[in-house]
Amino acid sequence: MQRVLSGMQPSGRLHLGNYLGALTNWKALQDDHECFFFVADWHALSTNYEDTSRMTTYVRELLIDWLAVGIDPERSTVFIQSHVPAHAVLHLLLSMITPIPWLERNPSYKEKQEHVEGRDLSTHGFLGYPVLQAADILLYKADAVPVGHDQLPHLELTRELARRFNSLYTPVLVEPTALLTDFPKVVGTDGRKMSKSYGNTIHLSDPEPVVRQKMKTMVTDPARVRRNDPGNPEVCPVFALHKTYSDSTVIDRINHECRTAAVGCIDCKQFLANRIVEQLSPIWEARRTFEANPARVDEVVQSGRASASKTAAHTLAEVKEAMKI
Ligand code: TRP
Ligand code: SF4
Repeated sequence: MQRVLSGMQPSGRLHLGNYLGALTNWKALQDDHECFFFVADWHALSTNYEDTSRMTTYVRELLIDWLAVGIDPERSTVFIQSHVPAHAVLHLLLSMITPIPWLERNPSYKEKQEHVEGRDLSTHGFLGYPVLQAADILLYKADAVPVGHDQLPHLELTRELARRFNSLYTPVLVEPTALLTDFPKVVGTDGRKMSKSYGNTIHLSDPEPVVRQKMKTMVTDPARVRRNDPGNPEVCPVFALHKTYSDSTVIDRINHECRTAAVGCIDCKQFLANRIVEQLSPIWEARRTFEANPARVDEVVQSGRASASKTAAHTLAEVKEAMKI
């Protein structure tokens, strides 16, 4: 079985975009891959090192979101990065063979340096972010890493580091391939891409009234002011979400009835809210179970820690042996 590994930073509750983009893919991979999924808490520190007061909450929330959507600890190893110190050791060893220009030319480094305001990101930790990510991946000899487009430069650097290590010492490390999660972007309540930084998200953990309220206030075709005005679904974010959530008969019907003003926005939104609530209901149910049983979540991360540590220790021993350390 091919081995798959992926991680997410604990930076708040997950939303529908995260769910449809990454998690449904992770969930499906469990069927025919050996999977490792981890909470990248050290990575979160690289940009949020000043205020760490919510870190433990975020880690917990993320784990519960994962378990609730069906990441299955019976089949996958679910763990927390900082529970496995081998990540830090391999990060250090890899940093010795990482040329600084490789890191400086990383597009996401440059982009965040320029665009993230209010934080000083000229830190060693932030520059070395991709080295830590490479350590995460190489430690488990992952064959494939499910990621979004934005992560491709990090994957490339991981491959370059593996090659460099293997040619300097002995071929111990496995070059991973990226498994692109190419889900079309999920639209947020304001019509832009659903994203935490825009404040336009619907969270997996939002209760039903909150979901329905958010849907009610969702932006529509701005030209459709009165109920009798015909609308244009092509410019309407609600319609974009219908394309994600509704079946083709409903989509066709709305496409037609919006243009003739046969359907009103309130009803149109309600059809959509019903679909979303339907999809989220089993997740809410599962969330409640895990929230009511924190010991179960602890058990998952403890056994994840044990099993991840074992694999990691094995690779780290080979790495040290290769480096004569
Ligand atoms: N950088 C990833 C992100 O921000 C998170 C991450 C850390 C990761 N280590 C990883 C993803 C290893 C895949 C593999 O989304
Ligand atoms: Fe958008 Fe639906 Fe209103 Fe048409 S009817 S403008 S698709 S919300």
